Amino acid sequence: MPTLEQRFSIHYRFPVFFHRNVFRCHDELLASVFARAGTSPHRFSCFIDSGVLEEDPGLIRRIEEYTQHNSQVMQLCGPVTRVEGGEASKADSTVVDRVVEYVKDYRLCRHSFVLAIGGGAVIDAVGYGAAIAHRGIRLIRMPTTVLAQNDAGVGVKNGINGLGRKNFIGTFAPPFAVINDFDFLATLPPREMRSGISEAVKVALIKDDDFFTYLYDNRAELAAFKSGPMEEMIHRCAALHMSHIGSGGDPFELGSARPLDFGHWSAHHLEEITDGRLNHGEAVSIGMALDSLYSQAIGLIGEEDLRTILSLLAQLGLPLWHSSLARLDLEGALGAFQEHLGGDLAITLLTGIGSKKEVNYIDSAIMRECLEKLVHCRHEALGAADPLTTAATVEGRPQ
Ligand SMILES: NC(=O)c1ccc[n+]([C@@H]2O[C@H](COP(=O)([O-])OP(=O)(O)OC[C@H]3O[C@@H](n4cnc5c(N)ncnc54)[C@H](O)[C@@H]3O)[C@@H](O)[C@H]2O)c1
Ligand SMILES: [Zn+2]
Repeated sequence: MPTLEQRFSIHYRFPVFFHRNVFRCHDELLASVFARAGTSPHRFSCFIDSGVLEEDPGLIRRIEEYTQHNSQVMQLCGPVTRVEGGEASKADSTVVDRVVEYVKDYRLCRHSFVLAIGGGAVIDAVGYGAAIAHRGIRLIRMPTTVLAQNDAGVGVKNGINGLGRKNFIGTFAPPFAVINDFDFLATLPPREMRSGISEAVKVALIKDDDFFTYLYDNRAELAAFKSGPMEEMIHRCAALHMSHIGSGGDPFELGSARPLDFGHWSAHHLEEITDGRLNHGEAVSIGMALDSLYSQAIGLIGEEDLRTILSLLAQLGLPLWHSSLARLDLEGALGAFQEHLGGDLAITLLTGIGSKKEVNYIDSAIMRECLEKLVHCRHEALGAADPLTTAATVEGRPQ
């Protein structure tokens, strides 16, 4: 019998809106997103991050009123559900199971919607539930943290942690739409605000020298969370992530290289061994500092670039060091990263600010020296005492 070959392609397309006060009664954006899906009204269930609800208990009432006002296009099914915020939502299958049960109990069909409002963790967990119930229900994401608005919420992945591994269980499933409402950020704790800036530094470092200069020149405003530069940063960072996913040739990460994971091989491990005491953005900041040091140590970038990178991270208030680094299992972390990506080891290193290269080998002895150097960076990161970080006192970006 001749072999048959199946072949088809699917064109994905979803909008990412930047908005404010999305549940104001007469605001049209969300209603228009539902309307775009055709015959209405559309049934939907809503899941909200507990951190958001604690700061804004009136949100549920506003969602109910908004839904009533737009009853011709949307119909809320079941009570709005509060989901424990942060990594707790991804720690086991509780949230995923709840979403799946909701889909059954409230008879949501594949034309219905799940609306996920929250940080990257809640969106990942609720999104995974939506992706597997009926093999996929339309998902509208409303990210409420900086990191979720500029990175986690605009991509195509979802998932939960499992068997002690970050994001071990999950799927690739593009959302129906994403609404980044900047007003949510008003209640975000400073530590979470800062953590989201880390991913912007990452994507600038690997892709966009101009964006890096923007971050460097606006570092004082960003460190103070001034809304103008923060919103510009979120928009540019989201655009870079989206363009990488949409035009990078590997949206579902079938290859081994994953440049958006610059600094992440050690970051994932640090998140695991600190049991979440380091959040994602903080761990990524340390991971980037480490891989920048390594890039310099093997001659890919110069000392000046290294200083600029470390001083930017430090002046944004991001960590360059954590006591858990002493427990970093180099081979174990690199091995776990390779396994997660599949295929050969592929680590992204810098060849300059805004340019990168993949390497398939890491010299453990050199990496260990870089770890040692990081220890020295921690105390004097902002000051003149450490020669690595003296650029921190320079006004504009050193050319
Ligand atoms: N799917 C992806 O492509 C992708 C990409 C990057 C990161 N992630 C995941 O995202 C997660 C990190 O997301 P995060 O940085 O958004 O943190 P998070 O979701 O862990 O939230 C951090 C804290 O902020 C609270 N919070 C959220 N919004 C708030 C608001 N508006 N006001 C007050 N408190 C609020 C939460 O309750 C939580 O306590 C990690 O699990 C990471 O693996 C996923
Ligand atoms: Zn990340």
